[in-house]
Amino acid sequence: MKEPVMPGATPNPLRSELDRRLPRVAGPSVLVLFGVTGDLARKKLLPAIYDLANRGLLPPGFGLVGFARRDWEHQDFAKEAYEAVREHARTPFREDVWRQLSEGVRFVQGELHDDEAFDTLAETVRDLDASRGTGGNYAFYLSLPPKLFPTVVKQLKRSGLAEPRDDSWRRVIIEKPFGHDLESAKELNAVVDDVFPPQSVFRIDHYLGKETVQNIMALRFANTLFEPLWNRDLVDHVQITMAEDIGVGGRAGYYDGIGAARDVIQNHLLQLLALVAMEEPVSFSADAIRAEKEKVLSAVRLPDDLAAGTARGQYAPGWQGGAEVGGYLQEQGIPDDSTTETYAALRLEVNTRRWAGVPFYLRTGKRLGRRVTEVALAFRRTPNQVFSQVDTEDMGQNALVLRIQPDEGVTMRFGSKVPGAAMEVRDVTMDFTYGQSFTEASPEAYERLILDVLIGDPPLFPRQQEVELSWEILDPVEEFWAGQGRPEPYTSGTWGPESSDAMLAREGRQWRRP
Ligand code: BG6
Repeated sequence: MKEPVMPGATPNPLRSELDRRLPRVAGPSVLVLFGVTGDLARKKLLPAIYDLANRGLLPPGFGLVGFARRDWEHQDFAKEAYEAVREHARTPFREDVWRQLSEGVRFVQGELHDDEAFDTLAETVRDLDASRGTGGNYAFYLSLPPKLFPTVVKQLKRSGLAEPRDDSWRRVIIEKPFGHDLESAKELNAVVDDVFPPQSVFRIDHYLGKETVQNIMALRFANTLFEPLWNRDLVDHVQITMAEDIGVGGRAGYYDGIGAARDVIQNHLLQLLALVAMEEPVSFSADAIRAEKEKVLSAVRLPDDLAAGTARGQYAPGWQGGAEVGGYLQEQGIPDDSTTETYAALRLEVNTRRWAGVPFYLRTGKRLGRRVTEVALAFRRTPNQVFSQVDTEDMGQNALVLRIQPDEGVTMRFGSKVPGAAMEVRDVTMDFTYGQSFTEASPEAYERLILDVLIGDPPLFPRQQEVELSWEILDPVEEFWAGQGRPEPYTSGTWGPESSDAMLAREGRQWRRP
């Protein structure tokens, strides 16, 4: 599909297609949302759709159709969407934007296995084509548990909704987790692949929609400064952390039996690792980027000794933000004997010429000290230290920290002379902070990703090969853990189980305390 061009933009068509700075506006289309009553829809998807409309990035010919079991009329869904937008949208509420958007809102009530409901859905989108000029372009967003994907995808085929007419398009958006392990991911893909061609399948890993994650490539490949440092000669190790202060909350049904590694390491953290470790792609096309990420994922090696090179834990009661909180086993809907981990850490290596021998430590957990996601490259110490050990006592390793969230930016840490008559060297930092350098706030990841689907721009969506390679990395770890009984408890509000600290301590290192 041709990239839409801002009205009044440069008349040179070649230039406008190549110029990625121009605002990209979606063409006429309908977004059909399955799972509209879920948390993700309410907190992220519906607000993101409004934010896109508010930024002028959705066309007047746009329709939003919700599909669920609830006994709702169109206006009930519109009211729910309105409340979600008022509560969670990033940009200010504007009555005129909402009115325009809500005129294209529809609801279809039904069960996923109900043929009639899907026939009604087909009629509803055709009506939107006629009344709103949505052009027969439909994106189906499956914000549902993976076990329901096959039913929906088959229904889309049966009802003719998966089949584009003339030059319209049909796309399917699949939320993670893509399966439970390698085998189920393959099975799932076979079902989707049977109905939609690969270029019409958009697998969401919302970390890739974050500005700070996209900035990893800008930082590495648009500058000369960092790339010469980016290798085994200078990097001692890499730490990738995604820490959350919240517990599982109302998501027990989804989370129990899945755990931290499947929920976060298999997707978000391995994608971060791939972006940090990959070679420069030949272009910024989806295929070129994905090919480089796949090379990295194929080169990832697990430790031989999984007991020493992995750690897992489960949060126990403790204190968080000044309040007393219960442990995982006290959460509603969690069985007393659950062995699901809420903390997971792995030591990986990337067997390429650039990275051989450099450990990549990955960790994620719930109910940790604070919410923070970052990638930290810790550099080797100078081969020869002219300053005495006492002079440099307060100096750690040089480090470059990509601060993904919430305090978005980049920090460089290095030693500096402490002013005074003595020669004392201590760590200082040099910071780039988004809020200070840019006036515009970063869009939410889902704004970017939904827009990319409607435009048909795939670089920020992992393809099946990446998903499978990630499961290949994780499956042996999950198998090993399955035979290990209960994960080690850690007190809520701390930085995870002792075994995780021990994993690094054995190699003379320690986790950062962000
Ligand atoms: C999701 C996980 O993918 O990411 C959740 O399923 C987690 O468990 C969430 O809470 C965190 O996202 P973010 O953008 O707040 O870091």
